[in-house]
Amino acid sequence: MLTRRFLITTTALMAAAPAMAPGMARAQAAAPSVTASSPDGVLSVQVGVNGEGRPEYSVTRLGRPVIAPSRLGFILTDGPKLERNFTVSAEAPTQHDDTWEQPWGEQRFIRNRYTQLRVRLTERNGLQRRLDVVFRLYDDGIGFRYEFPEQPGLTTVRIGDELTEFAVVEPGTAWWIPAFEWNREEYLYNRTRIDGVGVAQTPLTVRTDNGLHVSLHEAACVDYAGMNLRRVEGGRFKAALTPGLTNAAVERTAPFSTPWRTLQIADRAGDLVESHLILNLNEANVLGDVSWFKPMKYIGIWWEMHLELKSWNSGPKHGATTENAIKHIDFAAKHGFGGVLIEGWNVGWDGDWFGTGWDYSFTQAYPDFDIERVAAYARQKGVEIIGHHETGGNAYHYDKQLDPAFAQMQRFGWHSVKTGYVADAGGARVAGPDGQPRLAWHESQPMVQHHMRVVETAAKYQVAVNAHEPFKDTGLRRTYPNMISREGARGMEFSAWGQPGNPPEHEANLVFTRLLAGPMDYTPGIFGMQTRSPDGVATTWAKQLALYVVIYNPIQMAADLLENYEANPAPFQFIKDVPVDWAETRVLDGEIGDYIVTARKDRNSDIWCLGAVTDEEPRVLSAHLGFLDAGRRYRAEIYRDGPEADWRGKREDIVIEQREVTAADTLSLRLAPGGGQAIRFVPIGRARR
Ligand code: NOJ
Ligand code: CA
Repeated sequence: MLTRRFLITTTALMAAAPAMAPGMARAQAAAPSVTASSPDGVLSVQVGVNGEGRPEYSVTRLGRPVIAPSRLGFILTDGPKLERNFTVSAEAPTQHDDTWEQPWGEQRFIRNRYTQLRVRLTERNGLQRRLDVVFRLYDDGIGFRYEFPEQPGLTTVRIGDELTEFAVVEPGTAWWIPAFEWNREEYLYNRTRIDGVGVAQTPLTVRTDNGLHVSLHEAACVDYAGMNLRRVEGGRFKAALTPGLTNAAVERTAPFSTPWRTLQIADRAGDLVESHLILNLNEANVLGDVSWFKPMKYIGIWWEMHLELKSWNSGPKHGATTENAIKHIDFAAKHGFGGVLIEGWNVGWDGDWFGTGWDYSFTQAYPDFDIERVAAYARQKGVEIIGHHETGGNAYHYDKQLDPAFAQMQRFGWHSVKTGYVADAGGARVAGPDGQPRLAWHESQPMVQHHMRVVETAAKYQVAVNAHEPFKDTGLRRTYPNMISREGARGMEFSAWGQPGNPPEHEANLVFTRLLAGPMDYTPGIFGMQTRSPDGVATTWAKQLALYVVIYNPIQMAADLLENYEANPAPFQFIKDVPVDWAETRVLDGEIGDYIVTARKDRNSDIWCLGAVTDEEPRVLSAHLGFLDAGRRYRAEIYRDGPEADWRGKREDIVIEQREVTAADTLSLRLAPGGGQAIRFVPIGRARR
């Protein structure tokens, strides 16, 4: 049922939030407020100004308050603040409903159905500046952004502070990583009470004590600073913009829009994952046909460096030699992998590359890496090389080489590059106002601008980008479908050398937090026991396989040493068989930080896959196969934890078996401590009646 509600009333905004006692509402001076609801009436927003003309919004879900009145506005560095003395008016809400297709992704067709409410804020006196706040109300979440119209009183906008708040009404639990720390997004998740959060990065996900799930993030961050969340008091969070190079976190010229501030709101944790709010709030594809990028699985000259068996730098242990590249290309061709990542191929790794990066050339190979020969050999074998551009955080130096670097890749027919911004505490180098290099946060406006230059230049040369130590994902892959993946969290590499490594709950945290933002190049598939981290790889083998389904990434790595795959062909078969491009995704079950069961349908066949992972707790979960086609029989190829499997002990204890199933079946999934289960369902005929 489509219900439309839109009211401009002269009651106080406070009165719109049912949490408020009627007496409190009366105590406020009468001030206009506006309200609108999502298409099925699940979520409603109330927007207005309080007695001082301060803009505020609040959110209810099915009549229950979720976000209490929360401020809107800005502090400018060179003008009076945009914070009070506003009048509010609004246009009648509009409805939108269409379905769009992703060129690749976790879901082929995405419905974009929302109510839009445009609220106009005008200063009552002084400069009479104007600011619009546009709300998009979905049944599973809300996005809102500020739009600065062209106007005489506000041309260059220098934002010192964004005053946006998110006051979570109910107490509950929060999953979060700290912001403004030297290791960027690569921190272990904290699980605390909501009122125990400090300054957090987004997505920040909470579960209230009544079981409601809310995740706060942002969409379409272009030419703006990244938003972090500082808890102010109780459950009230305030935007904390990442500083830039001046006292303004953001410098823009009107007209412009801010990124969308997003709230995904759901009963089930899994509904957060199924929500397409972030993608829907991004603009449509501006690149057109990107079929030159093909989702694929890849191997690489990589894990051996992280184990220190080989080196990125030149010398006797150099990993990226012509010979090693050819060995990897042969392996990829033999086992059906689309790509080979080769790190350490280019000049610049000798000496201190961490946080310096001045020596890197993105075109010149080391002498023991015959790039022309490797390119020709890969082409002949039908394998693509994945380029690697580690910058050492020196975006300034990389910027100057973008064109020749991508032109070279295009000449070789290489369509994807892994970039990297490993830096020391100082941050990344960007061009300062005088053109000279300055240090800036990875999540600052100058770095956002850098990443856009990279992705736009790469697109010109038909190259897709997978950024490590990136700017966080805000769904820009919809607009720029060559922005294929990124890191932006602790990846598998921490199991190689992390102190501590990734604990067994890590992936069950990631799926409900960082991964709500978009794909991650997590690099699963580690069977080997050898690590430098005291904690090792804290999963069973079955869980390593399940990660290929649970973690969405259009370029999924098989990250282990080739000999570990050669020695274990049976479990390796799942990595070879699992698709990377999906028509549909369903989260069957899950709790944040505990476990998840995900089913996905291949985009190029009628095969379905299921992945289930748990934290350190063993579990028995049941999975109803109702997602399968009811008219068919399937061969379920099951890779499950064996009786002795345990992340602390027999990681390798895996049972591989097959059985026939239909959509009417329910499977019991037994997961070991730190375990998982991966299943591939292959249609084998019509179901018997
Ligand atoms: C950090 C990246 O996450 C990792 O994958 C890469 O191997 C190193 N940097 C070197 O670029
Ligand atoms: Ca990293």
